Amino acid sequence: MIKKVALVVGARPNFMKAAPLMRELLRHKNTLQPWLIHTGQHYDRALSQLFFEELGIPEPDLYLGVGSGTHAEQTARIMMEIEGPLQAQAPDLVVVFGDINSTMAAAIVAKKLNLKLAHVEAGLRSFDETMPEEINRIVTDRLADYLFVSEQSGLDHLAAEGVPAKKIYFTGNIMIDSLVSNLTLARNNDILDRLELTSGEYIAMTMHRPSNVDDRESLRDLMRCIGDISKRLPIVFPCHPRTRKRFEEFGLTDGGSGNRVMLIDPVGYLEFLKLQSEARLVLTDSGGIQEETTYLGIPCVTMRENTERPATVDLGTNVICGTDPAAITAAVDSVFAGKGKKGRIPDLWDGHTAERIVAILHEVL
Ligand code: UD1
Ligand code: UDP
Repeated sequence: MIKKVALVVGARPNFMKAAPLMRELLRHKNTLQPWLIHTGQHYDRALSQLFFEELGIPEPDLYLGVGSGTHAEQTARIMMEIEGPLQAQAPDLVVVFGDINSTMAAAIVAKKLNLKLAHVEAGLRSFDETMPEEINRIVTDRLADYLFVSEQSGLDHLAAEGVPAKKIYFTGNIMIDSLVSNLTLARNNDILDRLELTSGEYIAMTMHRPSNVDDRESLRDLMRCIGDISKRLPIVFPCHPRTRKRFEEFGLTDGGSGNRVMLIDPVGYLEFLKLQSEARLVLTDSGGIQEETTYLGIPCVTMRENTERPATVDLGTNVICGTDPAAITAAVDSVFAGKGKKGRIPDLWDGHTAERIVAILHEVL
């Protein structure tokens, strides 16, 4: 009998994780039938539709259109909108990805309907409960029946939390599946020409964590520091709408950074891969970008106090420098001085994670 597998996505970092699994499920449509739900947590074309087109993800079967709101509002709306359809369709499995509000909301509803639940990117922990994603990770992992883990630390944390070993599968990093299959295409992207940037002679940057951008003083100090760094090498900063909104709210014209930071709208997946792959270094507070730079061997300076992805530090090219401007400058200086980390690619970040997951689904469903 064909088993129905619901995939729930909602925001930018979900799409490059769901695309490889969707493709692999469609290769096995005699046995597994995907059913794609988009919550609409992200709705701007540049954060959503564009990724469906670039990554060849089929149109969602169901679009919930929940939009933005406070954590409680957004989470509640997702739960209310997804409950009826999940109940009506009664899929054999619900798959959620990563650590966004859509992940946790769908997980709670699925389990209360007694549906089987799989979490892709399970076990990651920052141990910082002021970070909304940490709550989403803990709740989702606690509920999941099948936990697909991307790096060694995930295995360690789940074991320490007492999750039964039979629920845990070390399948590797599914985001890297998307990277591997799109890298050639990305390398041919012409964004460097369009932005008049020279390979190896610019910094690519992103910043959108609430802890960095939601407080006026912190954001101003960070952008001042970034403005200073940009006097030495151009910085291209595709700006997340959360951050853009804060710049406006706080009256920080040009992000308060002086005029060499190229503040542009969020770019597509291929464009951002190209920007990362030829940057001297990447400056970020993103989760996924810490991993992509490690795969690409590009030095990454992460403007956060912690990471839930320690393999990028222990094995990869990532440095966690915190958010103190002096520390950020020192970390960037170190890369400029030729001391950027070389690193290696963690185990099972090899482009075959979706295949391993689908092989397991065939066994367990
Ligand atoms: C969310 C995720 C975060 C992830 C990020 C990826 C949670 C708790 N956070 O954060 O883990 O790193 O996505 O990009 O799930 N907005 C728009 N257009 C959109 C979407 C949002 O303008 O299409 C603006 C709205 O003003 C909104 C704000 O961005 O209030 C924040 O959006 P939200 O989805 O709540 O959180 P993110 O900061 O995007
Ligand atoms: N990304 C993108 N365009 C951008 C910025 C990021 O395509 O302008 C991609 C990036 O390459 C990675 C993913 O978005 O694949 C990371 O998502 P994000 O930083 O929004 O979320 P996080 O990983 O922090 O949850």
